Amino acid sequence: MSTTTQKLSSLPLPPGSLGLPIIGESISFLKERNFAAKRQQKYGSIFKTHIFGRPTVVMVGAEANQFLFKNENKYVTSTWPKTTRVLLGPASLSVQIGDFHTSRRKLLFQAFQPRALASYLPTMERITAEYLQQWESSGTLTWYPELRNYTFDIASSLIVGIENGSKTALGKLFEEWGAGLFSLFIPLPGTTFSKALRSRQGLLKLIGQITLKRQQQGNLGEDALGILLQARDEDGNSLSLDELKDQILVLLFAGHETLTSAIASFCLLTAQHPEVLEKIRAEQQHLSVSAPLTMEKLKQMTYLEQVLKEVMRLIPPVGGGFREVIEPFEFNGYFIPKGWIVQYQIIQTHKDREIYQDSESFSPERFAAETTQEKQKAFAYIPFGGGLRECLGKEFARLEMRIFASMLVTSYEWELLPEQNLEMVSIPTPHPRDGLKVKFRRL
Ligand code: HEM
Repeated sequence: MSTTTQKLSSLPLPPGSLGLPIIGESISFLKERNFAAKRQQKYGSIFKTHIFGRPTVVMVGAEANQFLFKNENKYVTSTWPKTTRVLLGPASLSVQIGDFHTSRRKLLFQAFQPRALASYLPTMERITAEYLQQWESSGTLTWYPELRNYTFDIASSLIVGIENGSKTALGKLFEEWGAGLFSLFIPLPGTTFSKALRSRQGLLKLIGQITLKRQQQGNLGEDALGILLQARDEDGNSLSLDELKDQILVLLFAGHETLTSAIASFCLLTAQHPEVLEKIRAEQQHLSVSAPLTMEKLKQMTYLEQVLKEVMRLIPPVGGGFREVIEPFEFNGYFIPKGWIVQYQIIQTHKDREIYQDSESFSPERFAAETTQEKQKAFAYIPFGGGLRECLGKEFARLEMRIFASMLVTSYEWELLPEQNLEMVSIPTPHPRDGLKVKFRRL
């Protein structure tokens, strides 16, 4: 043991409980949406627990986020449970680490550059209009599953060029694959994991067929797949077919549930706060918003942007991120050993009362440009994570949310149906327990 490690290990471990033998506190972690809040109240903003078979330290707050994001690859590195790793695939951006990860991120980012995003706008607008019309003709609906189909259809169209993806083989395979992503690693016939693994093979085959067809036709396409087929890394090399398939899969996966949750929360919170909805509508009217939408027009929707920011502050689609400790370190006087897992906390960071007054209330005004609050918030507003692993699809997500919200509020109204359970379920991403039942009509 080096002197530094000896010095470090003489420091105390963070307070907290490791729970029961073997399972630790995994069940409470999965079941309780306020798992971290309760423990933070009891132990402070850094505490230990034991989840998914590993001792884990939860670190809450802007300083902790900054420390972890800045020390990616030095003290910590990204980590996933074995099931997730196998199902995402060895070449997936999410499981890559170090310099190779950084280089691949750069390459994949070509599908999210401003020019690419602008080319996605008309498709997003068209699919949004189609869904809005469908919902209008339904009259009443359970919105959350519909919103899942909607975000998947946009992703499948813009990532692999498949229209109505949720109703095709791609959608079916994707559902089975997704169901196993965080299941137990039991590679035996009939288990959720094995079914998901079989679906992964199906998905890869499908992506391979689409790619081959494009190559044969000499038209690579202008969606994300087309962009990635033409992309080159720093050495001028393109992605191999195997890697391309894994990368397409991670793009389909990373944006699906997260974006659905953000949009559903927007629908819920604006239904509960009609005064906010009125202000969004007033802004749309003031800007004379009409089809077709343009990037310039969307950028002018500053109040809508505040609302969307506040939606993701209050109900962040991703609760936090996990890292593995690759080098022991000290944080706030505590020893964090090598091999332990660290979680940065998005939910609790966004509830910090010193930064967000009245942090439990929905108040888009807190993000108004004239308030100074905004400036003091480095690493305190992190719905998309941060540092080297910040969300790659952040601008894609922000674009889709703005298009959806703008088109929805300008032409439609919706009302929450009575006697439904609006309590938030957090798995796979936050959504109301009964799926958000609404009456939906044209304004
Ligand atoms: C509101 C919607 C979204 C939210 C809240 C969100 C949130 C996040 C967060 C918190 C991370 C970092 C996880 C970590 O630190 O370990 C992340 C990573 C990622 N996101 Fe998103 N995301 C959203 C939408 C999307 C979309 C639409 C795409 C792609 C189409 C996407 C692609 C990715 C990818 C590829 C990564 C991994 C980046 C890496 O490991 O370098 N996300 N996202």
